[in-house]
Amino acid sequence: MEKLAIRGGARLDGEIRISGAKNATLPILAAALLTDGRVTVGNVPHLNDVTTTIALLGRMGVEVTMHDGWKVEVNPTSLNECYAPYELVKTMRASILVLGPLVAKYGRAEVSLPGGCAIGARPVDLHVAGLRALGAEVEISDGYIRARAKRLRGARLFLDTVTVTGTENLMMAASLAEGETVIENAAREPEVVDLAEFLQRMGAKISGAGSDRIVIQGVDSLGSASHDVQPDRIEAGTFLVAAAITGGRVRLRAVQPADLESALLKLGEAGARVSTGDDWIELDMEGRRPLAVDISTAPYPGFPTDLQAQFMALNTIAEGVATMSENVFENRFMHVPELQRMGARIRLEGHTAVVTGVSQLRSAPVMATDLRASAGLVLAGLVAQGETVVDRIYHIDRGYECIEEKLQQMGASIRRLA
Ligand code: UD1
Repeated sequence: MEKLAIRGGARLDGEIRISGAKNATLPILAAALLTDGRVTVGNVPHLNDVTTTIALLGRMGVEVTMHDGWKVEVNPTSLNECYAPYELVKTMRASILVLGPLVAKYGRAEVSLPGGCAIGARPVDLHVAGLRALGAEVEISDGYIRARAKRLRGARLFLDTVTVTGTENLMMAASLAEGETVIENAAREPEVVDLAEFLQRMGAKISGAGSDRIVIQGVDSLGSASHDVQPDRIEAGTFLVAAAITGGRVRLRAVQPADLESALLKLGEAGARVSTGDDWIELDMEGRRPLAVDISTAPYPGFPTDLQAQFMALNTIAEGVATMSENVFENRFMHVPELQRMGARIRLEGHTAVVTGVSQLRSAPVMATDLRASAGLVLAGLVAQGETVVDRIYHIDRGYECIEEKLQQMGASIRRLA
């Protein structure tokens, strides 16, 4: 199993190009199933989760062609099976995103239930309830969701909890339903907006994406389109923290600063000088030790749960005491015992972590448990005394493109161990 070895202590300084967003790419590739034509998706990041999605489409008989510069062309007209097997779904929960498109376009789907994962139970009941409300017959047995429908019918949907992939699944399904669908309490994440833009390019009639009320007028068919995936705000946030935690500086290119507002405000509170332009962000910590910042995660535009572990790493060496509440997932503190092994002072009280900054972390062998937790451990390694070895980094390769190359570009001492 591959590991990352990080020698802490370097003050990072450099310029990084941010990749396309993983969480926008996955629903967009799934949405390609809805078209009668072929679609081209650009700015696709080179990640394991993208490879898994392509494997899933390939397994269904869909023709996927990779072009230079990570352009992916998808031609679903050769699809011969509406099936997402357990082997693929268990490696990537986002496989559930094919459910809505398959039922809407092909009238049937058999998709493995994702099950729980390291950060919580993560049910998909709202995806299923929404599809039922759109007229699909859904049966759950033997670990599989089996759905059928002649043609979905538009409906008024109210999501009990704000769910990102739930909103996406239902928005995709409603695009080909008969009549109007209204999704109330919809997720407002930028990735939902990117997906809506892609669907619109294919001919879908959607308004309100980015607000908590999305209205979709179903159409009979969708056509060809090409689209470039938006920048990855979580990758961007991770590299900003990498600079901040080391007292360093970074300039990010190809970003959408507006998508990162809550994180940028927190970095400012931590003492960083942050400036932004149309598609760039610059952060300079000017050698200062960060100040502790309180964090409370929430659906967008609140502070993203996907940046909680990285900001916890920042707080472990900050001046002062920070209270960090995780409100989106019930079990997203798996990085805490690992950070404690590196000398961090963290006390857990239910879904809140109280972090008292220490002046120095010490290296230790640590274990990645999920994608963003592993990013937090790598960041901690950047400031720990000695060499930190992070095990099970396959988690990190699911969501970060060339993380060690990009950190090396900023002057970090980091290498991959086979
Ligand atoms: C997406 C992101 C993930 C991010 C998360 C929250 C993708 C591929 N993944 O995950 O990186 O951490 O949003 O921003 O985009 N819930 C239910 N029933 C459901 C669906 C969700 O109870 O049917 C609950 C979940 O357990 C969780 C909360 O709703 O507590 C939010 O989860 P959700 O937004 O659905 O996360 P994902 O879409 O899986």
